[in-house]
Amino acid sequence: MNVAVKPKDISRNRPQDIKFAYWVPNVSGGLVISKIEQRTSWDLAYNVKLAQIAEKSGFDYALSQIRFTAGYGAEYQHESVAISHALIASTERLNVIAAILPGPWHPAVVAKQIATISQLHGGRVSVNIVSGWFRGEFQAIGLEWLDHDERYRRSEEFIRSLRGIWTEDNFNFQGDFYRFKNYSLKPKPVHPLPEIFQGGSSRAARDMASRVSDWYFTNGNTVEGIKAQVDDIRAKAAENGHSVKIGVNAFAIARETEAEARKVLDEIIAKADPEAVNAFGHEVKNAGKASPEGEGNWAKSTFEDLVQYNDGFKTNLIGTPQQIAERIVALKKVGVDLVLLGFLHFQEEVEYFGKKVIPLVRELEAREARAHAKVEA
Ligand SMILES: Cc1cc2nc3c(=O)[nH]c(=O)nc-3n(C[C@H](O)[C@H](O)[C@H](O)COP(=O)(O)O)c2cc1C
Repeated sequence: MNVAVKPKDISRNRPQDIKFAYWVPNVSGGLVISKIEQRTSWDLAYNVKLAQIAEKSGFDYALSQIRFTAGYGAEYQHESVAISHALIASTERLNVIAAILPGPWHPAVVAKQIATISQLHGGRVSVNIVSGWFRGEFQAIGLEWLDHDERYRRSEEFIRSLRGIWTEDNFNFQGDFYRFKNYSLKPKPVHPLPEIFQGGSSRAARDMASRVSDWYFTNGNTVEGIKAQVDDIRAKAAENGHSVKIGVNAFAIARETEAEARKVLDEIIAKADPEAVNAFGHEVKNAGKASPEGEGNWAKSTFEDLVQYNDGFKTNLIGTPQQIAERIVALKKVGVDLVLLGFLHFQEEVEYFGKKVIPLVRELEAREARAHAKVEA
């Protein structure tokens, strides 16, 4: 049944505090395509310690990455479900989001893997359904590379299948990509059910989010750029009787002074690997061009933007803790529910962010709430 809900009713239901996630560095080479020193590692010991630091520092989620082959850096890659499980097993509160790529994975396999992890640890596992940008990866493992909007049609069927398997017994589904007949998964995941995130910014991505996803994850952008996406998705979701939360990527450089932070950004760009950045840009822009409207996550990305894989500099969380906190609250005001963060030196900077930035965000949020309550009274 489609129940029309006005966007403002949806926003009133959002939890009070903006959430924080970090990118799990489970692929080698860090999150910027630059020869600048990055004190990070893709190995298990580093990642376990990072996850423990993150949950103590006020992070709610960790997002793993999926890559089946190297390209533009990322020479070595740990698989996302396996490493997510290891991180859940080594923490107490953190929710770890496993990246899933329809194509290599079948929804029955993912539903089973995630249900098992949820059962073993009492929840704390989510999925990020990504639709893919890397044609060479599909070719390398002998899988068909679908056109842009076909990839989203498949992802939507994937999400509908996952949700059906997790919530119904004798599940039936007749799609173009997946079929299920009287299928009953036992055991199912514990409640609350694993959340379903998705990554992508194109027309097809936004339409899918407004129909089936719990969360829409998008590349870094300006507050205005994010607002346009939020308004579009929430209006469409309301028409569909669906509610969707919004997560935005950012590469954080928090330092005691703005000048110090800017200097780090300048050094990242100055030491960028032009060949790799241009090749990456070519690949992702082509993947987006294949969408009918010729858009996508990286449609307007410049060379500098592309040095960070997901346009994380554009969100401009670069400066002092106070400046960053204010910008995060500005994002919240236009409807953002979660900020996904990448760092140069993960363990050190996640800890610093938790000590210096998150408390300021909470203060500003409380101040906003008090001001709002006064206006209402
Ligand atoms: C937060 C986020 C995380 C992503 N993680 C992955 C990933 O782990 N593996 C992958 O192949 N693509 C990943 N992607 C890229 C998506 O697969 C997709 O190609 C991209 O967002 C472009 O989609 P669009 O053309 O709809 O804008 C991610 C995207 C976002 C926004």
